Amino acid sequence: MFQTIERRPPDPILGLSAAYIEDKNPDKIDLGVGVYKDEEGKTPVVSAIKKAEQKLWQSEVSKSYVAQAGPAGFNEATVRMILGDNSAALNNQRTCSVLAPGGSGALRVAAEFVNRNFPRTRTWVSTPTWANHVPLLSSAGLELVEYPYYNYESHEIEFEKMMDTLKKAKVGDLVLVHGCCHNPCGGDLNWEQWQAFAEAAEKQGFTPFIDLAYQGLGDGLEEDVKGVRLLAERLPEVIIASSCSKNFGLYRERTGSVTLIGETPDQVSASHSQILSTARQIYSMPPSHGAQLVEIVLADEELKAEWLAELTEMRERINNLRSELVVKLQEAGVQQDFFFIEREKGMFSFLGLSVEQVQTLIKDYSIYLVNSSRINVAGINQRNIEYLARSVASVLQA
Ligand code: LMR
Repeated sequence: MFQTIERRPPDPILGLSAAYIEDKNPDKIDLGVGVYKDEEGKTPVVSAIKKAEQKLWQSEVSKSYVAQAGPAGFNEATVRMILGDNSAALNNQRTCSVLAPGGSGALRVAAEFVNRNFPRTRTWVSTPTWANHVPLLSSAGLELVEYPYYNYESHEIEFEKMMDTLKKAKVGDLVLVHGCCHNPCGGDLNWEQWQAFAEAAEKQGFTPFIDLAYQGLGDGLEEDVKGVRLLAERLPEVIIASSCSKNFGLYRERTGSVTLIGETPDQVSASHSQILSTARQIYSMPPSHGAQLVEIVLADEELKAEWLAELTEMRERINNLRSELVVKLQEAGVQQDFFFIEREKGMFSFLGLSVEQVQTLIKDYSIYLVNSSRINVAGINQRNIEYLARSVASVLQA
């Protein structure tokens, strides 16, 4: 039966890692997959997580299932981290949260939950958006339509065009937005834009579907969810798919959440039962290790402070690299204006190169980045930044 199966090309993002590993060039640079790296190019275990692991190892007496929704303490801490302790939705029992296998698992469970109850729901996604959003959400059955978001020439958010297109979004539609650190462009909505978006959602009745994979890596843990909290405060319904991969460094532990805000506690509890039943049909029970670690860290003042300090370090490193790259590109003789890189947030920015130029960087310079010219800024360090800037300059001048 497998004789007719056709080979698929490698994943546009994940495929880069395999190619990078095989490359023998000592100057090679990996700016592909969105994984945080330190100055040494390593992705170490976050120290507070390591300590939580020790605690868990000492206290855990069973590997039996935790609960279908995941550890209650983790779910509670997740909602508080996203919405804040003063959230009216939280305090009025209008929220529920379910552990899912990573941010992608959370997106998939949320999409399946919606599609199961409202088949072929029209879901608006930004252009551009994370390369895996489209296959992940459409294969869950949702009908995807695009809204303009980022101008590749000016490197600005096309907010007017976005809102103009979203005038067509109505009750029963989902609008997927990136909570912070937009993947792939790094351009986030400002406060006024979030307000205008919230107003449109309120007036037109569409439901925001927020992908929150980088909380803490833009401006700060609280600052990065200002828009999310505004939507949660003003709207009757919001869906959030969040991830602990990046901010807690828990990538392989697959730790994410589906958080739902509904109009009444009753509606939320009915939705909760549907989300659990959806998850049961896909993978039955979630992996709990990462969630237990997050729960331990967030419940312990000292570990929490240690984690926050490390998160700040990651964020500041990325932001400093953004500024440095702009300077190094200038020093390398690049004529184009790259200041937008400094303005953008999170792990990613576009270099604004063509696919051919990207392929030249990969083939001739062993610099690995996505065809869209998206770079993972965290892959830059003091040893490779000049080589990167010189290589980009020569590709642009060719
Ligand atoms: C990325 O965009 O590089 C990350 O979210 C990792 C992935 O799975 O694509």
